[in-house]
Amino acid sequence: MSDPMIYVNGNMVSKSDAKISVFDEGVTHGWAVYEGIRVYEGKILELDAHLNRLYASAKGAGIVIPIDHAEFRRAVLETVVTNDYRNCHIAPWIGYGELGGAPSVVIRIVERSSKMGEPATAMVSSVRRAAPDSIPAQIKTNSRLDLMLAKIEASIAGVDYAIMLDHIGYVAEASLANIMIVKNGVTLTPYPINALEGVTRNLILRLLPMSGYKAFEDNITLHDLWTCDEAFVCGTGAEIRPILTIDGRTIGESETGPVTEKVIQLYTDYIITHGEEVDYS
Ligand SMILES: Cc1ncc(COP(=O)(O)O)c(C=O)c1O
Repeated sequence: MSDPMIYVNGNMVSKSDAKISVFDEGVTHGWAVYEGIRVYEGKILELDAHLNRLYASAKGAGIVIPIDHAEFRRAVLETVVTNDYRNCHIAPWIGYGELGGAPSVVIRIVERSSKMGEPATAMVSSVRRAAPDSIPAQIKTNSRLDLMLAKIEASIAGVDYAIMLDHIGYVAEASLANIMIVKNGVTLTPYPINALEGVTRNLILRLLPMSGYKAFEDNITLHDLWTCDEAFVCGTGAEIRPILTIDGRTIGESETGPVTEKVIQLYTDYIITHGEEVDYS
């Protein structure tokens, strides 16, 4: 696999030439925002929803993106087409820049195959998600040491995902993914207060009711988590993966449950029917 071409401040350069200043505040203090976008079989998913969130994150973080939405859109598509990737993960990144300087705009891209539906394990992390009056979860920022500490904990424990609680003790989200549980056929996910308002999560909350399933935002407790019938993580990078054990406790029947199967089918269909064809010509 050859090195990808990366967008850096208006230019497409090879990965080894993709450089920004080590004095960029995004590097020195994590003062940066980013997105994760996916292409499946040449179709890009929810590009505008991701870009809208990128601009909102930047506004929240006091970063002015130097190009507008339409130009950013073109830059993302140019990055995909230049690399001729049909299945990939794209990560636009905006660093504040050097103090007194201009922001850095980078669009990374990697080829990626799908892990959709692969069963996973999880634990409840001892690290709490940052409180909303600390680092708002709605800002998709690179200042995410809380999530990384939880991820390390999960890795040491030998499980795939750390589930983080919020400052009150309700379930917030998983390390780099949202979490949903199913109880008596009803799908529940935490309010987007201490959890990122995931594009995938929002899509699932829209798609399930259109197929006659109930899906709501709610406060979710540890007890709800341990006693639910099904649990799954969802996200652009994480995709949709059933969680079969949490803290070693079996969830439901320890196999992908019927609602999770339905969500995977709805999401997969959505990619085919609503993914935007990338013009590689
Ligand atoms: C902390 C966190 N929560 C949730 C998600 C899922 O968000 P989305 O569905 O928009 O990819 C992500 C994605 O990277 C994330 O980093």
